[in-house]
Amino acid sequence: MSDRGEINVGLMGLGVVGGGVAIALLEQSEEIARKVGQPVKLKSILVRDGSKSRDPRIPAELVTTNPEDILSDPAINIVAEVIGGIDPAAGFLKDALSGGKHVVTANKEVVAKFGPELFSLAQQNRVNLLFEASVCGGIPIVGCLMNQLLANEIHSIRGIINGTTNYILTQMAHHHTPFQQALDEAQKQGYAEADPTNDVEGIDAVYKLAILASLAFHSRFAPEDVFRQGISSLEPRDFQYAEELGYAIKPLAIATLSDGTVQARVHPALVPLDHMLAKVDGIYNAIEVEGSLCGHVLFHGMGAGREPTTSAVVGDLIELARNLASNTGMPAPASLGPGADGAYNRQLRVGSTDDLTSKYYLRLDVADRPGVLAQIASILGDGGISLASVLQKDTDAEQQTAEIVITTHPAREASVQESLAKVARLEVVREVKNLLRIEE
Ligand code: NAP
Ligand code: HSE
Repeated sequence: MSDRGEINVGLMGLGVVGGGVAIALLEQSEEIARKVGQPVKLKSILVRDGSKSRDPRIPAELVTTNPEDILSDPAINIVAEVIGGIDPAAGFLKDALSGGKHVVTANKEVVAKFGPELFSLAQQNRVNLLFEASVCGGIPIVGCLMNQLLANEIHSIRGIINGTTNYILTQMAHHHTPFQQALDEAQKQGYAEADPTNDVEGIDAVYKLAILASLAFHSRFAPEDVFRQGISSLEPRDFQYAEELGYAIKPLAIATLSDGTVQARVHPALVPLDHMLAKVDGIYNAIEVEGSLCGHVLFHGMGAGREPTTSAVVGDLIELARNLASNTGMPAPASLGPGADGAYNRQLRVGSTDDLTSKYYLRLDVADRPGVLAQIASILGDGGISLASVLQKDTDAEQQTAEIVITTHPAREASVQESLAKVARLEVVREVKNLLRIEE
């Protein structure tokens, strides 16, 4: 039993995730008590708008708009933050840790940006900070990287880590749903971030990949260390052309370690139709981790939504409550914060995407005239970029324009970008519509 008597939880946020967590704590209290060995009580729930009507299963007397009802209540020993964003969530987390409370958060932005500071606060105050729900909803990837896979030198992490964009691209590819309609549906289902730009422009995936890379490679990676390209430039025709070429388009996140350098990137990419990731649809996420001992390990599951995320938050709460009940502490994850001597475990270099070697897919609007392709091919050839295929599409006789889709053999990103800038300046090129990487 805990030497502090009761285990009381203060929940900050009662939205998509918070609602699920509150109901799980209230309705599964007996099962949770059995797993912990002691009752775990939901004592207070912080919301922004006290006048909103709430799920009738949640007792109104638990709901407050005053954060001090949680932060200054000495009886609350665990705070679960599911508000999201930096302000005021980051301040609440710091206050909770400084006040000696254990913390669970689903907030990837705060963990990615302020992880080291928060873990240092947790260590100073001899409390724990768990964040399983911050990456990939119901998939237990954080705990595995922090614990079960520790024996490995991790070589790479590769996968789909944003449910909203995977849902949008799946709807566009399979049902020809317009982009905005697919996004509206993702928002209605509660998958999207408060500002869906974070999903669409790859920002959410950047936060998650910065967290995963820090855990996997034991070196701190900040969001700025991750290359980012969103999905907003994709049009239904890209899916059609990709399929003709034997590919699906997926929102990928990739971090690889080679010669002491980590290259991390988030962008849509073409993947072969028979590739495992091509079959991961809707809000499902999948992550493949390659380790020195475990080889290739695959995680697959629901990456967003109330229930999967509740699973991760409540799992962390139970873990903390068990530690409180048995009076055992847990070391804070040093890989995301400075160790006892103030230094990170390792300091790996951040690689530039310029050095990436990849195959590419390129879509251009051009004048429909003889010799256009020759001019483009000549510039690409001068840049050392060899063409794998060329398709001419959608010729508009009236406008005298055509669409050209090119795929390349492996080429260096810097050369591709440089050559593409030259191609874009050609008088016969109306517009460079899309440049996507192809991951085999
Ligand atoms: P949400 O539905 O927008 O809920 C946010 C909650 O926080 C609401 O209850 C809101 O209060 C409360 N809140 C907002 N600002 C506040 C403030 N200044 N003071 C007090 N309370 C405030 O968000 P969500 O989808 O549950 O996401 C919460 C967190 O989980 C985010 O960090 C998100 O990235 C993460 N996450 C979400 C998912 C998902 O699928 N949704 C999955 C994994 C992780 P009111 O109810 O009064 O408006
Ligand atoms: N908006 C996020 C997503 C929620 O769609 O993946 C889960 O972190």
